[in-house]
Amino acid sequence: MKDYIEKNKNRWDELAKVHFGSEFYDVKKFREGGISISDLEVKEVGDVTGKTLLHLQCHFGKDTLSWARLGAKVTGVDFSSQAIKLASQLSEEIGLDATFIQTEIGKLDQTNLAEKSFDIVFTSHGAIFWLPELKKWAEMIAYYLKPGGFFYIAEGHPFALIFDDEHESELRVRFPYFHQDEPLAFDYDSSYASGDVKIKNTREYGWVHDLGYIVNNLIAAGLQIEFIHEYPFISWEMFPFLQEKDGWWYLPKEYQQIPMMFTLKARKPV
Ligand SMILES: C[S@@+](CC[C@H](N)C(=O)[O-])C[C@H]1O[C@@H](n2cnc3c(N)ncnc32)[C@H](O)[C@@H]1O
Repeated sequence: MKDYIEKNKNRWDELAKVHFGSEFYDVKKFREGGISISDLEVKEVGDVTGKTLLHLQCHFGKDTLSWARLGAKVTGVDFSSQAIKLASQLSEEIGLDATFIQTEIGKLDQTNLAEKSFDIVFTSHGAIFWLPELKKWAEMIAYYLKPGGFFYIAEGHPFALIFDDEHESELRVRFPYFHQDEPLAFDYDSSYASGDVKIKNTREYGWVHDLGYIVNNLIAAGLQIEFIHEYPFISWEMFPFLQEKDGWWYLPKEYQQIPMMFTLKARKPV
């Protein structure tokens, strides 16, 4: 397991640097103002003014700092030291108060955070695929939430993840749906945001988690599900034949529509 996580960390350290300079993340525009969180997430999360927010797998902090711009008191965590370094630099540069801490998600409950509990725990878009298991993950989320606080996730739908992401025109089943302990292994010399830049650390490992596994681990950790929404669009170009509109990627109209993203809100009881 250590080796899988280590390999992923090497890749994400390299990706953090490349992504920071990429058109996809457009840090130049972000420095000037605005937020990178979608209207949909802002609406579903609700008013964050004055709330403490823990962002899991925050990458180089663009979304974390967006929540800060919306008035939250934010802490971002990620296992990539490069991502955390860039996030800290970015927050300083644009003068936004934020705390960034480097830690592996599996070790978060042993990590010293300045805030001991949060009003909101948030994670999104391409996060849980990198986590080997979600039982400890859900328990850690429940542990860090204040009573009455909530967890929110916007993520690629596990159903959509079964289809071949390289096929040029069809949805063809390629990957398992149900959670399994063994990771899937991939070798890619690019990333969703790297453009033409070649990535040296090609090996990555990911884990599939079915929707039942995700939801039931949150319930078992004591959280109460408030909603699960399924959407026929996603925040990245998951398949080569998707079409972009207003920042979301859709299947062309003639395809049978499938869920490609889900959002979920779950509350820790008072
Ligand atoms: C696709 S990015 C998340 C993207 C984020 N929503 C954004 O758009 O900025 C996934 C993040 O998970 C982090 N990550 C992957 N595995 C991790 C782990 N085991 N513990 C902590 N962070 C991890 C990576 O370093 C990366 O920053």
